[in-house]
Amino acid sequence: MKIKFTLLLCPFFFLACQNRLPQLSSPDGELTVRFRLTSAGAPEYSLSRGSDSVLLWSAMGLETEEKSLNSNFSLQSVSHDRQDITWETVWGEERLIRDNHCSMMVKLRHQTGLRMNIEFRCYDDGIAFRYIFPSLKGNMTITDELTSYRFAENNEIWSIPWRTEYYEGLWNKAPMWSLEDTVCSPITIELKDGGYAFVHEAALYDYPAQNLYVKENTLCTYLTPWLDNEVRAMDARAYKQDSFSTPWRMLLVTETLSELVASRIMLNLNEPCAIEDTDWIRPMKFIGIWWGMHIKTMTWEMGPKHGATTENMEKYLRFAKEHGIEAVLAEGWNKGWEDWRHFSFTESYPDWDMAYLSRLADSLDVEIVGHNETGGNAADYEKVLEEAYAYHADHGINAIKTGYVAPIIRTLDGLQWNKGQSGVRHYRKVIETAAKYQISIDNHEPVMPTGLQRTYPNLMTQEGVRGQEWNAWSRDGGSPCEHVTVLPYTRILAGPVDYTPGVFRFENPVIPTTRVHSTLMNQLGLFVCFYSPLQMVCDLPEHYMEYPDAFRFVEEVPCDWERSLLIDGKIGDYCIYARQERGGDTWYIGGITDEEARTAELRLDMLDEGAEYAMTLWCDAADADWLTRPYAYDIKEYSVKKGDKVTVKMAAGGGLAAQLKKNN
Ligand code: NOJ
Repeated sequence: MKIKFTLLLCPFFFLACQNRLPQLSSPDGELTVRFRLTSAGAPEYSLSRGSDSVLLWSAMGLETEEKSLNSNFSLQSVSHDRQDITWETVWGEERLIRDNHCSMMVKLRHQTGLRMNIEFRCYDDGIAFRYIFPSLKGNMTITDELTSYRFAENNEIWSIPWRTEYYEGLWNKAPMWSLEDTVCSPITIELKDGGYAFVHEAALYDYPAQNLYVKENTLCTYLTPWLDNEVRAMDARAYKQDSFSTPWRMLLVTETLSELVASRIMLNLNEPCAIEDTDWIRPMKFIGIWWGMHIKTMTWEMGPKHGATTENMEKYLRFAKEHGIEAVLAEGWNKGWEDWRHFSFTESYPDWDMAYLSRLADSLDVEIVGHNETGGNAADYEKVLEEAYAYHADHGINAIKTGYVAPIIRTLDGLQWNKGQSGVRHYRKVIETAAKYQISIDNHEPVMPTGLQRTYPNLMTQEGVRGQEWNAWSRDGGSPCEHVTVLPYTRILAGPVDYTPGVFRFENPVIPTTRVHSTLMNQLGLFVCFYSPLQMVCDLPEHYMEYPDAFRFVEEVPCDWERSLLIDGKIGDYCIYARQERGGDTWYIGGITDEEARTAELRLDMLDEGAEYAMTLWCDAADADWLTRPYAYDIKEYSVKKGDKVTVKMAAGGGLAAQLKKNN
């Protein structure tokens, strides 16, 4: 499957380049990145699509305590390369991913003698670059990154402010140049010419997460700072030593939204899988002793309403077995929930019998998903990681949900932003240690994903989103219908999301001022529209049993795919996805809409030529509405083939779900 071309970059080529600017085009020739040094020796790049300018000359480089790396460079050499390979994912939205790009290495020398290379890659759907210091000896303290994006037009962007705690905010759309606050990476851009762009980073290791702000109509990089003892921002952003490369700076540019969500550049920029045997990494759905705590009918800590008891877990394990759900999460099984000061990861409460439950789970062939809430004390967690994972592995636990519940966490370096360099180091340590014990991670309160799951596929899913739980207790009454129709084009482009779909009872008797703003069909649609290889089925078993024929879709929908296609969508309005189960012929379709009712045209162009499919459609009833009749739905059967079009009405706050089984 591997074809690799290397066009070695001949000195001739470099000589030829000396009279014109170094440039790099995408394999299809549409995108072109150009590089130059200004008269002051400052590196800059620009980007065009066809004859249109996307980015005007934009700054590059770093500021460091030791020297300013924004000017005084000379060009040493330029070389080009080309790669076209296809690789197989351990799990994902696609089984096979093509990495087809052209690359260019620009070698620079600073007047102080320091060498800095800029490696560019150009794909048909975007570009990326990173800074490489191949011969640094000793320390470098980075105080700023100068990478900027000078868009030719004042495009509309979707973003959340950079201080949004754990990225759990509602995304906002505004013209880029009027942006006042610094925002989190990523951002999604609606280009003036009708296309789309997405700015993010890939392969974030031992470096602070990037944020973005606008200055003089230019999008600039703000690296998350280190904090001092008084939790004030320091000048230092990253401490580096000896040769290193920064994370990739990535800009996707596509004509359509379907192409934008299908881009796999971020994964391609990450290193191949570092885990030799990956058989133990299994995509699965899980229910959990969880929603009860959020709607406040159960508690994490011991007491009369304690959720994670042996008896309750036994009920959940048997329910999972009966309904073909592979695993059960239990939160509140371990000591420490009374005051959140010191959690134990190896000692359970007296009403939880880990040995018995682990044997029971094994005999039922259902997995237990462990839970390690740290309360933001990453330092204490790191000290006992090996012990904690050995304990879980000994009890047959193969996946753990971790949690930090603090945007500023206590790391081995004191209180630090979780998305600063120290936090980033901690999360990497967790993933690597978990891999040693064959444990997969569902990380809550993470740093925004950047594609590390290609290298460590045991990093299966992450939160970093205003998830379903906000609909249980949020003071603002729950997320508006629009929220879920923004996420597939913003947060989820950064990687799998543990949003926790599947609420089947929307009113909350304990907190009546809040509710889920959706119909039942919208909840079904989320299982296809929101990708996560560890997918939570988040409601209580008794709520599912009120609508067993709707729950059948949840039982059957997989969470690992052969192919995925956005059939139709608009940011903040609606989303319709089709995905084919991995290693099988069955297709699933999910649709969600905002507060507007819409008619979806399901064009079945993806089906196999000449084959007949039995399609089961779960759809909103004619009078369904998220506020007045959220539980009204119909189930319809069709026989369909490639090229057919099925028209489905989605109610306000509604959705749809379909399963298409190939007749043999
Ligand atoms: C916040 C997480 O997002 C949620 O899923 C979890 O239940 C609580 N923290 C407790 O760990």
